[in-house]
Amino acid sequence: MALSLGLEGKVIVVTGGNRGIGAATVELLSGLGAKVASICRSDVGPTLGRMHLKADVTDAAAMSAAIDTVENELGPIFGVVANAGITQDSLFPKMDFAAWKNVIDTNLHGVFHTIHPVVPRLYDRREGAMVFISSIVGERGNVGQANYAASKSALIGLAKALAREGARFGVRANVVAPGFIETDMLKDVPPNVREKILAEVPMRRFGKPEEIAWAVAFLLSPIASGYTTGVVLRVNGAHHT
Ligand code: CAA
Repeated sequence: MALSLGLEGKVIVVTGGNRGIGAATVELLSGLGAKVASICRSDVGPTLGRMHLKADVTDAAAMSAAIDTVENELGPIFGVVANAGITQDSLFPKMDFAAWKNVIDTNLHGVFHTIHPVVPRLYDRREGAMVFISSIVGERGNVGQANYAASKSALIGLAKALAREGARFGVRANVVAPGFIETDMLKDVPPNVREKILAEVPMRRFGKPEEIAWAVAFLLSPIASGYTTGVVLRVNGAHHT
C-alpha cells in the first residue's frame, strides 16, 4: 500500500504563497494532493495551487471574503498555513512607531484576520490543522528586529492557546520556527551581516524553502501529527536548539 500523509483532496489555505517559504509550501502541498488556495496581496505569483486570491492579510473584510470564496469554490477548509510576513529592520532607537506597527499589523494581526473566519468552521466540523510560520527570531531575538521578534514570538503564544482551546474540537495549532532561509527576506540583509549570521549556523548553510514546507506538511497531516499540537518545530540547522 502506498504511504500517504492523508492530505489528498484536503482544502488548505496558504497566505503569502507567491514566493519564498509560502510558494514552496503551495508547491509541496499541491504535490501531496491537497487543494491549495494561495492568498497574496500582490498579483504576481505562480499559479501552482488550485486557486490564487488577491487579499491583504491586514484587511479583515477582504480576508473574510477570501475565505468564503475558498469554501464556496473548493469546499470546506481543513488547513491554514499562516505564512505571510514582512520585515522592517532597524536598530531600536531608529525604529519609529510606523515600522513597529506595520510589522505587527501584517505578522500578528494578519494571522488573526486569516484564522478568525476559519476557526469557527473547523470547530463546528471537528477537524482541522493550523500552522503558523514563526521564526528563530521569535525565540531568541535578533539585532535590528525588535518588531519582527515581538510579532513572531506572539504567534507561539497564539498557537499554544489555540492548541488547548481547539483540542476538544479535534483542531490542532502548531508553529514552525524557521532559521535563516534562502528567501528574498535574507537577500535584503547586508552581506557583512549575512556572513556573521552564517558563521553562527552549525550546519554552515542557510535553509531551503522546501525544508520548511516539509515541516509544514508534517504538522498539517492528520496521519503523521494527529496527536501533535501546541509545539514549536525548529528547522534551523542547529542555530538555536
Ligand atoms: N546579527 C549580528 N549582528 C548584527 C545583526 C545580526 N543579525 N544585524 C546587525 N548587526 C550588527 C552589525 O554587523 C553592526 O555591527 P558592527 O558595528 O560590529 O559592525 C551593528 O549590528 C550595527 O549594524 P549596522 O552598521 O548595519 O547598522 P545600521 O543602522 O546601518 O543597520 C540593521 C542596522 C538595519 C539592523 C542592519 O544591520 C540589518 O539589516 N541587519 C540585519 C537584520 C537581520 O538579521 N534581519 C534578518 C532578515 S531575515 C528574516 O527576518 C527571516 C527570519 O525569520 C530569520
